[in-house]
Amino acid sequence: MHQQKIEAIKSAIEAANAASQDELEAYRIKFISKKSVVGELFAQMKDIPNEQKREYGQLVNEVKQLAEQKFQELIEKVNSSSKKSKSTDMDLTLPPTGIAAGGIHPLTATRQRIIEIFERIGFNLSEGPEIEDDWHNFTALNFPENHPAREMQDTFFIEKNPDIALRTHTSSVQVRVMENQKPPIRTLSPGRVYRNEAISARAHCIFHQVEGLYVDENVGFADLKNTLYHFAKEMFGKETKVRFRPSFFPFTEPSAEIDISCLLCGGKGCNVCKGAGWVEIGGSGMVDPNVLENCGIDSGKYTGFAFGMGIERIAMLKYQIKDLRLFTENDIRFLKQFRPML
Ligand code: DAH
Repeated sequence: MHQQKIEAIKSAIEAANAASQDELEAYRIKFISKKSVVGELFAQMKDIPNEQKREYGQLVNEVKQLAEQKFQELIEKVNSSSKKSKSTDMDLTLPPTGIAAGGIHPLTATRQRIIEIFERIGFNLSEGPEIEDDWHNFTALNFPENHPAREMQDTFFIEKNPDIALRTHTSSVQVRVMENQKPPIRTLSPGRVYRNEAISARAHCIFHQVEGLYVDENVGFADLKNTLYHFAKEMFGKETKVRFRPSFFPFTEPSAEIDISCLLCGGKGCNVCKGAGWVEIGGSGMVDPNVLENCGIDSGKYTGFAFGMGIERIAMLKYQIKDLRLFTENDIRFLKQFRPML
């Protein structure tokens, strides 16, 4: 009677299987725990007549061992199959999916590249305030008072005070550097400038310039040309040509506008350069002796060159961007294109 029951339990144990942690737990409850069928066999010991207790005990112990041995086997089986399925879930030979990363704004990237090029040839960095006084923005730079040259740059004044304005160019930093340092001076001043202009694809009331200044004994126009040739080739590529067009700025004499050969057509003429083959990137010239004197530098001993370029302009040429407004509109479809390729 007992024997039959025990045999049935043994074959149930042998036939048992488990493919998951839940099924393992079910097995444990059914065959191992105190309330399991095996546990019950132990509980029934008290009803067994004394002379049979020994034999019964042996049988029940065998069942118990069998149940435990099977339990160990099932644990191993479930663990190893879950390990296997984990490793087959992942194909290590697949190319990685990209990590989403932000990009550097094209103006920042352009500014950084300009700085890098000039730092390598010995220029340091300098900055000045965006709210500037008349002296640093105009007068020291040889703009006579009430002279029409001031109207070349439409100015935003602060609180109707004609002496304080948002700087119209980074040339104001030239003055601040020369007032505070003795030659030799080789400095680059990137920064934001303001002009009271209607916003369009080609003009903005807020934009960025970078100013360069080199003052020492015997600095000549050839130094200016060589420096800007070097810059253009580094910034836009070896094939780029530079041309200097005579111009006028109150703070330089002689003055020249800087053109580079059109990057799109290589100089043949296209709609970006409007058929000219050349595009303007800034102004330059030999620092006017009056400016040196205004800043306390002996113009008999020292000469210098200066240049000023628009950072938006350079970025537009480099990345072929046709509308200046894209830089400030934060259109993610535009900015996304400057994300690094990961
Ligand atoms: N400040 C001029 C402008 O904003 C650009 C410029 C021209 C800067 C000639 C210079 C220079 O340093 O020499 O239009």
